[in-house]
Amino acid sequence: MIQQISITEMKLEDVEKIKKDLQVNFDNFWNYEILKEEIVNNNSKYLVAKIIKSGKCEIIGFAGIKIILDEADIMNIVVKKHHRKKGIASLIMENLIKLAQNLDLKKLRLEVNQKNIAAINLYKKFKFEEVGIRKKYYNNTDDAILMEKII
Ligand SMILES: CC(C)(COP(=O)(O)OP(=O)(O)OC[C@H]1O[C@@H](n2cnc3c(N)ncnc32)[C@H](O)[C@@H]1OP(=O)(O)O)[C@@H](O)C(=O)NCCC(=O)NCCS
Repeated sequence: MIQQISITEMKLEDVEKIKKDLQVNFDNFWNYEILKEEIVNNNSKYLVAKIIKSGKCEIIGFAGIKIILDEADIMNIVVKKHHRKKGIASLIMENLIKLAQNLDLKKLRLEVNQKNIAAINLYKKFKFEEVGIRKKYYNNTDDAILMEKII
């Protein structure tokens, strides 16, 4: 499975391809306009996972980092619903960490909803550590867990 997947830099044309899919198959974690702004921002780097089947290319996940000096925030990593629990987010995360190391960054940070067990487990798998809580950060109800990893 993993071998059929390519991880490349995300381009504007990739965003256009998933424009309609964002709300439905990517759980509405991203807004099209915001994602477009992120992709053209010089301080951001995004990676996209694609699967190529019978000559057709399907985007199945993406994530990015926003760089601030020698640190970066990981922006919402998201995998298309039907492709979850197959190691896709792990593959994207491995590549994102390598990218950050190649850019000579020292630390990766992120925030995640306390109820998002799948994402918390993913980050723990990659040795992110909890460093704080932002109370009622999401919709004024759910807490955000702040996590970091020295790379
Ligand atoms: C979180 C998300 C990106 C994980 O993607 P994925 O491709 O399914 O993740 P992987 O298959 O690489 O799993 C990596 C680890 O995450 C954890 N995990 C993934 N799905 C899980 C689930 N449903 N329940 C509990 N743990 C889960 C496991 O610990 C897994 O480790 P393992 O490989 O040792 O089993 C995916 O569920 C998603 O897109 N969710 C919606 C968007 C989102 O919540 N993004 C995070 C915003 S902070």
